[in-house]
Amino acid sequence: ETLFGSGDCLRGKDVVITAGPTREALDPVRYLSNHSSGKMGFALAQAAQRAGARVTLIAGPVNLNTPTHVKRVDVVDAREMRDAAERAADLCDIFISAAAVADFRPASVAEQKLKKQEDQDESAIVLVKNPDIVAGIASRTERRPFTIGFAAETQQVEQYAQSKLQRKNLDMIIANDVSCAGSGFNSDHNAVTVIDRNGSHTLPSALKTDLAKQLIEIIAAKTQQ
Ligand code: CTP
Ligand code: CA
Repeated sequence: ETLFGSGDCLRGKDVVITAGPTREALDPVRYLSNHSSGKMGFALAQAAQRAGARVTLIAGPVNLNTPTHVKRVDVVDAREMRDAAERAADLCDIFISAAAVADFRPASVAEQKLKKQEDQDESAIVLVKNPDIVAGIASRTERRPFTIGFAAETQQVEQYAQSKLQRKNLDMIIANDVSCAGSGFNSDHNAVTVIDRNGSHTLPSALKTDLAKQLIEIIAAKTQQ
């Protein structure tokens, strides 16, 4: 350990991390979102910085402090996150997609606050698909970083994660079971399985900050040529 950090396994590397939820506007006062806290992505940003990397953290709306010496870019919706991620990924070595991106957004955003009609008992919202940010980065033929995704699942965790690894052409996927109490979304703890083309490796439940350090070491080892 030095004054500047806890190691140098990512010394000289540029790392981009997305974190937190996205918010998809419905009208000026309403949005669609999810319960992601951003804690795992922020913990990874801190761990990568301490391991010697230059870190850009692309953050959706979260209530977290920016880790020291990390460059933070705040975004609101998925398309803003995609634009910021594409820009930052152009000069990075490692891209980590920890954000809980909304899969869909309202097809249109009302200019004025939506009003309910008298006697209206039902309402429907038409949604359209958002861009898949990590799949876009992983499908590059040029300037393609080592690309890592997360898979939050409530069932058949490893199988679903495996299929995402392949479908999105990722180099690694970090699977977590968000159905366990005290794990995943909005928790300080997490238990994950790291999967790549060579196999899988389960890490026991730990504080997200400790888990982040372990994940950064695994990622550093995989990206050392
Ligand atoms: N992801 C992304 N852009 C999206 C959706 C997901 O970059 N529009 C990324 C997430 O950051 C994560 C990975 O894709 O790293 C997997 O996200 P997840 O929600 O688990 O998978 P989906 O492909 O969206 O499939 P589903 O939600 O149907 O399980
Ligand atoms: Ca999703």
